[in-house]
Amino acid sequence: MRTILMDGDPGHDDTVAFLLALAFPERFRIAGFTTVAGNSTAKNCTGNILKVMDYLGVSIPVAAGYESPLVRELDTAAKYHGETGLDGLLSYPPAVSRPLAKHAIEFLKETILSSKEKITLVTMGPLTNIAVLLKTWPQVLEKIEEIVMMGGSFASGNSLAKSEFNMYADPEAAKIVFDSDAKITMATIEACFSGGLLLTEQETLKDGGKVSRLVYDILKYYSRYAVKNGWDRTAVFDMTTILYLLSPEIFSWRDMKVDIELSGAHTRGMTVCDDRGPTYLAEPENPRRVLLGAEREEVAKLFFAGMHALDQRFE
Ligand code: BDR
Ligand code: CA
Repeated sequence: MRTILMDGDPGHDDTVAFLLALAFPERFRIAGFTTVAGNSTAKNCTGNILKVMDYLGVSIPVAAGYESPLVRELDTAAKYHGETGLDGLLSYPPAVSRPLAKHAIEFLKETILSSKEKITLVTMGPLTNIAVLLKTWPQVLEKIEEIVMMGGSFASGNSLAKSEFNMYADPEAAKIVFDSDAKITMATIEACFSGGLLLTEQETLKDGGKVSRLVYDILKYYSRYAVKNGWDRTAVFDMTTILYLLSPEIFSWRDMKVDIELSGAHTRGMTVCDDRGPTYLAEPENPRRVLLGAEREEVAKLFFAGMHALDQRFE
């Protein structure tokens, strides 16, 4: 059993990641959800996750975090997630529950330091909250088992040719986190795409129970881009973090040094994965685990097992 804290910008895929974690209570205790500006404003993202929790009658602490990146201007992903960040659920009732009356980083610090066991940080958005947390209270590192993040890429990009959105959105924050002593696993866009959910699989959700139908509505919106491009699948990026924690054996990876590019004209937020190997490079002290691929069918099995379990629980 792992105690996890989830930090993200829900967001269609962040929401699915949260639901997947919720589906396996024997594996995860979700100590809280903190939000950050990314896909939309932190205010919208906070309302979005609370809306989903209210819909299911679930009560997990939610704390709102930073409204803008450390240095750059906020550049949201409204193109993929809509203006609210979760436009797939526009017709669902708005949240009634409120976030905690404390900032995300205060909540993270208090929860981590007061926890008996070490905590796994699951990050699914720009790393603004986490960077400030680590800079302000470096002692939390002793209580952090590891950071499992959706972010970065091995060779590709989505926001820019070589930059993934979460890193691109706040590269200075990403650099602080990657310069820290934390143990980091990166679910890259390559791993997320290779573990994508087929559009045909997504269609079957509409015949399921309450949660499957909710996720159907989420993915219907989120998959517009795939449909438009003639792809057969959607990378539900953020859920890859939870899938890795559930079943690391369905992923391939390499451990290597990773640096964040800040100053390149075309490479803002690029995760520079140094795979030159021992001929050129001394063994890095704390290599980052870079997920490169996933067994797609195993991903689908785990995802549907999770949805089925939630359908049984929430009627
Ligand atoms: C990441 O960007 C966001 O739009 C998604 O929620 C995910 O965290 C994928 O690059
Ligand atoms: Ca996200």
